[in-house]
Amino acid sequence: MFETLTKAPGDKILALMGEYAADSRSTKIDLGVGVYKDEKGVTPVMSSVRKAEERILSNEKTKTYLGIAGNKGFGAAVLDLVLGDSVDRARVRIAQAPGGTGSLWVLMQLINRARPGATIHVSNPTWANHNPIALNSGLKVATYPYFDPATRGVRFAEMLAKLDTLGAGDVVLLHGCCHNPTGANLTNDQWDQVAASLKRTGALPFIDLAYLGFGDGIAADAYGTRKVLATAPEALIAFSGSKNFGLYRERVGAAILVARNAEEAEITNSQLLNIIRGAYSQPPDHGAEIIRTILEDAELRAEWESELSGMRERMITLRQKLAAAIRERSNSSDFDFVADHRGMFSLLGLPVEAVDHLKAKNGVYMTSDSRINVAGIPEDRVGDLADAVLAAIR
Ligand code: LMR
Repeated sequence: MFETLTKAPGDKILALMGEYAADSRSTKIDLGVGVYKDEKGVTPVMSSVRKAEERILSNEKTKTYLGIAGNKGFGAAVLDLVLGDSVDRARVRIAQAPGGTGSLWVLMQLINRARPGATIHVSNPTWANHNPIALNSGLKVATYPYFDPATRGVRFAEMLAKLDTLGAGDVVLLHGCCHNPTGANLTNDQWDQVAASLKRTGALPFIDLAYLGFGDGIAADAYGTRKVLATAPEALIAFSGSKNFGLYRERVGAAILVARNAEEAEITNSQLLNIIRGAYSQPPDHGAEIIRTILEDAELRAEWESELSGMRERMITLRQKLAAAIRERSNSSDFDFVADHRGMFSLLGLPVEAVDHLKAKNGVYMTSDSRINVAGIPEDRVGDLADAVLAAIR
């Protein structure tokens, strides 16, 4: 049987974790995979999460099944968090799913049931796992212009022009906030224009919301999602609790669908639940129960929001420090964009040789497209990093 197989490509982002771990240099710097790190370089269990877990441990009475859509309280709390009052809830359904990736996967399966072989338009560039998930789901992938390497901002006029050419059978995958890998994001005014374009063309918006709260704050980061939902007749959202709750390995996320009316929502949801049952039956509960516990309790929620603000502010400070250190050394504003970007990542725009050089010579790890995870910048070694980056491109 297996002799028919050839070796599949490895995942470049996750492979970096192994390479970094195997590097014995004490001066190494990990700017690779998108996990938050504190000032000690540790990815901590958030205090609000720890407290929620303690409550769960002492209060949980059973481990019996919860059902295909998972934890209902989690679902309701996530809808409040993400949607606000942007859309009539009668048109909305939510199913808990294993992480942002699991949510993307079940929703892409759903698209393929509705429109087999439909084209999903992704930003150029996009997160490295979007294409595999789409192709594994039977969809076709096309791109729309997004990142401008010259300005390190968004090529908005070109993006909009492309979106305007799409039609009702097309799907547009948008990063709700904190674009991965570039760090370049749409302004509110640009979101308004994207929402108007989608309404005009009838293309289906599909929002990947993996970093809510990592950009400018929860409400600010939800602006685009809510704007699109306020006008789109149909929409899909893949929510992740990996980053903003620090629950990476618990695999907690949610697949949200918005239909034209309650009746269509019910039918579409029956297909979504059928997909889930036929794949992994139902999601694991632990991460969802943690999020439910936090969001439903005023005190824990306030603590979580303050921890989330702390992470966000630290990332913004690190951005400013790196941009300043490079400006100081190079006497140029070439890397000022790092301070303007938001979220966990910035695409530095370095040639692959420079990325390889940084890894070999300095033990600085980033993905081959020169994406850095700003949370991985060691605060006391910003100067070393600035020196290394400048030496690599000289
Ligand atoms: C990343 O982009 O580094 C994260 O989303 C982790 C992952 O699964 O790729």
